[in-house]
Amino acid sequence: MEDQKRRMLSGVQPSGDLHLGNYLGAIKNWADRAEEFDCYYFMADMHTITVRQTPADLRRRTLEQLAQYIACGLDPEKNTLFIQSHVHQHAELGWVLGCYTMFGELSRMTQFKDKSAKHKENINGGLFTYPSLMAADILLYQPDLVPVGEDQKQHVELTRNIVQRFNGIYGDVFKMPEPFIPKAGARIMGLTTPESKMSKSVPEGCVFLMEKPEDIARKFKRAVTDSDTENPVRYDPAHKPGVANLMNIYAAVTGKTFDEIEAEFAGQGYGKFKPAVGDAVVETLRPIREEAARILADKAYLESVYKAGAEKAGYAAEKTLRKVYKKIGFVAR
Ligand code: TYM
Repeated sequence: MEDQKRRMLSGVQPSGDLHLGNYLGAIKNWADRAEEFDCYYFMADMHTITVRQTPADLRRRTLEQLAQYIACGLDPEKNTLFIQSHVHQHAELGWVLGCYTMFGELSRMTQFKDKSAKHKENINGGLFTYPSLMAADILLYQPDLVPVGEDQKQHVELTRNIVQRFNGIYGDVFKMPEPFIPKAGARIMGLTTPESKMSKSVPEGCVFLMEKPEDIARKFKRAVTDSDTENPVRYDPAHKPGVANLMNIYAAVTGKTFDEIEAEFAGQGYGKFKPAVGDAVVETLRPIREEAARILADKAYLESVYKAGAEKAGYAAEKTLRKVYKKIGFVAR
């Protein structure tokens, strides 16, 4: 019975092309869960407009992202895949939860601080209250687990605070969600800037899922390492952040441990190590890229997936929203 399964939910903003950080930190850990969990994954388009977007690009990337989700192994027959803005309950619960989220809490969010520093000319209200909408995204579906990369943990923790506050007043309305952070791949750093997380804003250090194999290989060959020649391939994030990042990526795509990786490259330099990591990534992404291109060509299929997804998600979301509206004293419609 579907209702007895535990639930999982997560989303990615279609604000840029999906990259290796999104894949290893999040999406890779969503696939193959559908037997055990009732899974909901969405394109967080409402979140993207906290930063200015070009409308045609946003529309295109949202559909590309859906094709890439499916190509990453999320079978739409077994997972509910939908577009956030198609399920109006997100905006509605987002408003309610904004009234149960404190100014001080929102002010402490790292993503808000980063983005407001980057976009000084557009520090809008949505950017600030974004975590209440994210809490609504999560809580509408009453999930047990929220699989995200390390950088989203703070938002899930805030969601947990909101649950505690809300349930403390109104009784058991929301289930307490747990973040699920993968062991390998939770924080992939930029290949050219290993001190900051991989992000589309530094494209030369960012590997995109749809990128050509030769471009991916070139980016890995140019990855920043260090001048250690004695025992180069060893895991020491404090002193060798570039190498630690490459080992982390290699571990995440091959399933090997750091000890195994050190043994494999013992006595070898970066000239061998960097292309080997590049090759492993190319081979992991190749089938995804080919499958995504094939799926993207079938617009009618994609439309049928997101329409069915929105219907199913809307049903689950409405159940929670009704309960919330009743608890807080809104007259039933
Ligand atoms: P977003 O769109 O920035 O990133 C999507 C997912 O990718 C992970 N991620 C990374 N993981 C490892 N290394 C990296 N360099 C890296 N960069 C990104 C993120 O941790 C995330 O899991 N607010 C969210 C989207 C969202 C959401 C939600 C997620 C909206 N509502 C509800 C879960 C549940 C965001 O901006 O992620």
